[in-house]
Amino acid sequence: MASKSDLVFFCKNCGYESLKWVGQCPSCKEWNTMTEAPSGKKGKPERRTAAGIRTELKPLTLDEIELDEEERTTTGIAELDRVLGGGIVRGSLILVGGDPGIGKSTLLLQVCRNLTEKGTRVMYISGEESASQIKMRAVRIGSFNDKLKVACDTSLDEIVSVIEKNRPDAVVIDSIQTMVNESVNAAAGSVSQVRESTGVLMRVAKGLGVTVFIVGHVTKDGAVAGPRVLEHMVDTVLYFEGDVRGTYRILRGVKNRFGSTDEIGVFEMFENGLGEVANPSEYLLSGRAEQASGNVVTCTIEGTRPLLVEIQALVCDKTFDFPKRQATGLDFNRVSLLMAVLEKRVGMHLGLSDAYVNIAGGLKLSEPASDLGLVIAVVSSYRDRPVDPKLAAFGEVGLNGEVRAVSMCDRRVNEAKKMGFSTVIVPKANHKSIENIKGIEIIEASSVEDAIRLI
Ligand code: TYD
Ligand code: MG
Repeated sequence: MASKSDLVFFCKNCGYESLKWVGQCPSCKEWNTMTEAPSGKKGKPERRTAAGIRTELKPLTLDEIELDEEERTTTGIAELDRVLGGGIVRGSLILVGGDPGIGKSTLLLQVCRNLTEKGTRVMYISGEESASQIKMRAVRIGSFNDKLKVACDTSLDEIVSVIEKNRPDAVVIDSIQTMVNESVNAAAGSVSQVRESTGVLMRVAKGLGVTVFIVGHVTKDGAVAGPRVLEHMVDTVLYFEGDVRGTYRILRGVKNRFGSTDEIGVFEMFENGLGEVANPSEYLLSGRAEQASGNVVTCTIEGTRPLLVEIQALVCDKTFDFPKRQATGLDFNRVSLLMAVLEKRVGMHLGLSDAYVNIAGGLKLSEPASDLGLVIAVVSSYRDRPVDPKLAAFGEVGLNGEVRAVSMCDRRVNEAKKMGFSTVIVPKANHKSIENIKGIEIIEASSVEDAIRLI
């Protein structure tokens, strides 16, 4: 039984550690997330060396440090390489997070296959599934050679020693929530266990130059420590998003020490594993109801990549006294704000209507450039007049109803042109960057009223 002094409080959301209980986490400001747990520290802090190979600490001057060009290995999956910033950097620690069942194990097994085909030695360590379950998945994916070794264990000491003995080039740990570091006095999946285990894996990665992929389940209820608590420890954080029941998946980079973040990779789940979707605009627009009111295509930028997405709005008479608003894939407050702009600047009485907005394809838009598309979708649904399906619109909308400039306007227009759109509505302020684009009708709007009048 842990003594009182061994117990500390951890925030289930962000991992903040506190000696006393507090109702609101001082770090992430979430309420009721502090839970009592053993501190995980035993006696005097021991100096754990990097899997036993770290020598004396010797500070160097910058001149003495050699600049080694990061050597990148392709994963054989272009969509993943893009999110990683061009491939895997040797010795890096990569966290792949996502809901259970989204396809993390499948993706990493496919990476294992591609790496081993090029002669890289990979070890897949699972604490979740039995060897035969892994084999079953592998059989669905395809054929593997003997460079891939599979092990099922949850003891981190055991795993570290097997890595030290076999020295693979890459290791997959599936999942961090099942791993147990015996020197930590806490249950598997607890915040302290997950953090300490990641620390050990980091030392293995850096010390031995082994690339380590860590799978982490995102949990909404916070019963088990989510991957968020270890984001700051790893080099790269990728999140797998999408509807588990649907077939499309989006892999998003949220942190990357070796490349830009905000890149996304798009995948589709097939019978034999995940396939790449090289042209996401095409998939995001597939199955569109072209003559329905309330649907408008906008162009958003994810990382460096323009994407055409459909914004859907449904405005109908309110059912209760209070008008209902619902936003899926868009920020709720932004939607409310834009509807208030429509009330005030365009004179639409949306206070008598319920409104639902949705981004088709399960994408989440955070960019204000989608404002204009949303506004037009709401107007279209309110008036029950369909918008030309070959029209795309983007621009940030301000509180005065003005349409403001967006970044990378030319790329957005070119993407619309490439996807066969005939007209785009763009902010007037972006005129300069797009004046030379031919082959698509460009309508420049300086205000929301302008845009609505022009269509
Ligand atoms: P999985 O990779 O096990 O998800 P995670 O590791 O993120 O929990 O697989 C998720 C789902 O994908 C599972 O329900 C089965 C399905 N699946 C396919 O549709 N096709 C396949 O080829 C494979 C291997 C899995
Ligand atoms: Mg899995």
